[in-house]
Amino acid sequence: MRIDILTLFPNMFQGFLTESILKRALDKKILEINIIDFREYSPLNNKQVDDTPYGGGAGMVLRCEPIFLCLDEIKDDDAYVIMLTPDGKTFNQKEATVLSQKKHLIFLCGHYEGFDERIKSLVDLELSLGDFVLTGGEVPAMAMVDAISRLLPDVINDESLESESFTNNLLDYPNYTKPKVYRGLEVPPILLSGNHAKIKEYRMQEQIKKTKEKRPDLITKE
Ligand SMILES: C[S@@+](CC[C@H](N)C(=O)[O-])C[C@H]1O[C@@H](n2cnc3c(N)ncnc32)[C@H](O)[C@@H]1O
Repeated sequence: MRIDILTLFPNMFQGFLTESILKRALDKKILEINIIDFREYSPLNNKQVDDTPYGGGAGMVLRCEPIFLCLDEIKDDDAYVIMLTPDGKTFNQKEATVLSQKKHLIFLCGHYEGFDERIKSLVDLELSLGDFVLTGGEVPAMAMVDAISRLLPDVINDESLESESFTNNLLDYPNYTKPKVYRGLEVPPILLSGNHAKIKEYRMQEQIKKTKEKRPDLITKE
């Protein structure tokens, strides 16, 4: 998969791309990520990318030209363009799964007061990370790219994905590791029994119990 991220703050992605699972996916060439500073596409002499809003009001709005010109250059037939915006559809695991099937994703990270509305004419999907306002689209882009990347084949173990929270509309089961007892807190004996069928059944029951307690809304979702 190829992912292009259009941002005015490319340095924010440094640590993100050089650690952990994402780094491994990049090293294995399962994923290609290009961080593109769209200021470079400003046709203005001073590389200005924003301006005051027509009609007045606070803050600065991102101008059309840099985004249009950049997309003219990088968009191919497979490209799927995502605008990060608080008024978009809320991102979730189902969306991550759908997006993980695409060949080429382009994320547009806004800043200041956000994008000139006409940029939306280039966009396939508007996504929000949640009902709050962040300074820019960089943190949402990182969160979404992380969630999408780990679903790509051979990035992480398929078994780890099977029982993960939100797969099959359930939360994950509780996990324990060594030691068996810590400060009087014990590991449930069934997990030490070696009976894999019973362990599987116990975990499924725990997933259902936890989801009913914490996120009953998931159970009724299609
Ligand atoms: C300060 S915000 C603009 C907020 C906008 N004026 C509003 O009230 O909806 C600047 C940029 O951050 C990004 N952003 C902020 N919050 C976000 C969220 N919850 N989800 C996705 N992107 C967000 C968007 O790219 C947005 O263009």
